[in-house]
Amino acid sequence: MTEHSPVTQTDAKPVKTMAMPDAQTVTEVTHWTDRLFSFRVTRPASLRFRSGEFVMIGLMGDPDPKTGKQKPLLRAYSIASPSWDEELEFYSIKVPDGPLTSRLQHIQPGDEIILRPKPVGTLVHDALLPGKRIWFFATGTGFAPFASLLRDPQTFEDYDEIIITHTCREVGELEYGRTLIEDIRQDELLNELIGAENLAKLRYYPTTTREESPKMGRITDLMRSGEVYRDLGVEPISPEHDRAMVCGNLAFNLEIKELLESYGLEEGANSDPKHYVVEKAFLD
Ligand code: A2P
Repeated sequence: MTEHSPVTQTDAKPVKTMAMPDAQTVTEVTHWTDRLFSFRVTRPASLRFRSGEFVMIGLMGDPDPKTGKQKPLLRAYSIASPSWDEELEFYSIKVPDGPLTSRLQHIQPGDEIILRPKPVGTLVHDALLPGKRIWFFATGTGFAPFASLLRDPQTFEDYDEIIITHTCREVGELEYGRTLIEDIRQDELLNELIGAENLAKLRYYPTTTREESPKMGRITDLMRSGEVYRDLGVEPISPEHDRAMVCGNLAFNLEIKELLESYGLEEGANSDPKHYVVEKAFLD
């Protein structure tokens, strides 16, 4: 069950509306689990970004007890919405004692957040050489940049096959991604923009590690055993055909990086496109 805003929370501290630099207004908040939520904000008219990039967002910190001055508390967040969307979407974890997310989780439509309009990041098409098949590997909130890339027509124009894997601890944590994939397949605008034939290139491979679900296990283990390739009926990853983008927790990023290198893939960058790219998912 998802809980759409307005949300009634007894412990919700209202986010002060004040003259903040780079302020944007919250338009929608969805709580997916007690640990995960997504929200949409207005988009600065001047902001252009490439799907997969991140921006710094946050709130004003508490006043300094001595000086009374407030400093912005900012963190890197991947933009989850596509570059053609008129609003910006973000997907976040709620860390109970996290400096930012302990407060950010209480935002409501009409509140303001700070958004520095300077998008950057490595999970962009420009950082990869041309290929036949692209793999998006995500854990937890690492799904966010792919929520943007999966709604970008270029993803479907550049590749014959798009495979997104998402590993989470529990089934409920897959819900944001599962709903998004379902929406992509059904959305009339996207069908028109991307084409139904192109959308059929998309494969979704969700797995859980700590709760029973149709496919259990860490994606890295499923790759090592060859199970993921058997399940999808595809050849194992090769540098000739496959490209990959990775976004998840640090241990996962390191492990999959090693695995991709063992297949012969090399890490690319904006200035030096190669076979795969990696970004760390936001953690407060
Ligand atoms: P596990 O439950 O076995 O730790 P988290 O919520 O801690 O960010 O983790 C998200 C998902 O990433 C979990 O399903 C977790 O599995 C998985 N994970 C954590 N570390 C690794 C790793 N080194 N390789 C693959 N998956 C990992």
